[in-house]
Amino acid sequence: MQFENSLSFARGLDTIDPLKDFRKQFIIPVHDGKEQIYFLGNSLGLQPVRTQSYLQEILNGWGKYGVEGFFMGENPWIHYHDTLTKTLSTVVGALPHEIVVMNQLTVNLHLMMVSFYRPSGKRKKIICEAKAFPSDQYMFETQIKHHGLDPQEVLIEVAPRAGEHHIRQEDIRQAIQQHQDELTLVLWGGINYYTGQLFDMQAITQAAHAAGAVVGFDLAHAAGNVPLQLHNWDVDFACWCSYKYLNSGPGTVGGAYIHERYHGKTDMPRFAGWWGYEKETRFLMQQGFKPVQSAEGWQLSTPALLLQASHKAALDIIEEAEWGQIQEKRKLLNAWLWFLLDDLQTQVAGNIEIITPRAEREKGCQVSIHMLKNGKAVFDALSKAGIMVDWREPNVIRLAPVPLYNTFEEVWQFNNILRQILQQQA
Ligand SMILES: Cc1ncc(COP(=O)(O)O)c(C=O)c1O
Repeated sequence: MQFENSLSFARGLDTIDPLKDFRKQFIIPVHDGKEQIYFLGNSLGLQPVRTQSYLQEILNGWGKYGVEGFFMGENPWIHYHDTLTKTLSTVVGALPHEIVVMNQLTVNLHLMMVSFYRPSGKRKKIICEAKAFPSDQYMFETQIKHHGLDPQEVLIEVAPRAGEHHIRQEDIRQAIQQHQDELTLVLWGGINYYTGQLFDMQAITQAAHAAGAVVGFDLAHAAGNVPLQLHNWDVDFACWCSYKYLNSGPGTVGGAYIHERYHGKTDMPRFAGWWGYEKETRFLMQQGFKPVQSAEGWQLSTPALLLQASHKAALDIIEEAEWGQIQEKRKLLNAWLWFLLDDLQTQVAGNIEIITPRAEREKGCQVSIHMLKNGKAVFDALSKAGIMVDWREPNVIRLAPVPLYNTFEEVWQFNNILRQILQQQA
């Protein structure tokens, strides 16, 4: 599409947007009496209007039936989990029985490490991205120490080359090949939280498998953002959170994917709990763990129904909006943002540098802008103007306009205000 940098053009794009009515399904925070321009879907997605009623439905069931709510009412809680995996299977590209909704992201990464990080003989090494999200770094450090090993020796971080912002795909492949005799696991972020770089997960999976290693992904910034095909890519496991692009509420329940080839391996090491026990005989409360032969076999505890309800409220919106349409709008909204930022860069040369890759296959909603001058002051001025983006030390502004509730006009307004602020600062 041939874009034009004007408010009327932005409004025209909103008029023909097939998802435009979905914005009304979200509560937009207000700043100085006006709706904020909220570009923090990469941090905490906005609250769907319907979330309250979904929570209320669980409370009503609890009030009406007590513990019998698990088996009674229109939506018995015992089957609630299945109502989540259908939409998630489209979002992450997995079979529904390869998905389990449980816990939070870091907890699930730890649980997956118990099953998939099995250092033995000289195969002990893990490859991960340099500057992984800190929680992942702490997870790696403590898991490796838990095996009595030294993180310095075991963990191999692949970093961007000097002077570059992105990690080259060829460097990941090369690191995997170089360490193939000692490698046991590649655990990578689907999208890097800082730069917004989207990685070729299929290529990473192929390279790791060729080296005899297992592959997992942290999809915090990818799930609900970009299309994924975990099953077809042959990924071994993955974990994600639901509070960013999946709009399910702060700290709400996360998810994990485990390829079906592992489901029948009932002797696989894992930390178990009664909710992962085979369903038919779970309530006989017998000794000896027998896992459900699906991803649910990794579940430990009684499901957090209120959190699942909050998750379902958001997933039902995705189902109604249709994942394919969401993806179409994501690409157009993002292309619009890049077009405007390119224009801006010609006007305020030397002030900003975009560190997110430009190629479509290497990015999702997020754009990270390296502020070359007065970054914090620019960020503060944006906040004052009601534009919610985030600041990452030492000098990056991240923003992520998302298809379900952001508009083309908001992107134009953001760019226009950013230009004014940069020109004032000059
Ligand atoms: C890439 C990544 N990994 C892990 C986490 C930690 O997630 P949680 O706090 O849900 O465990 C986050 C949180 O933002 C993240 O962005």
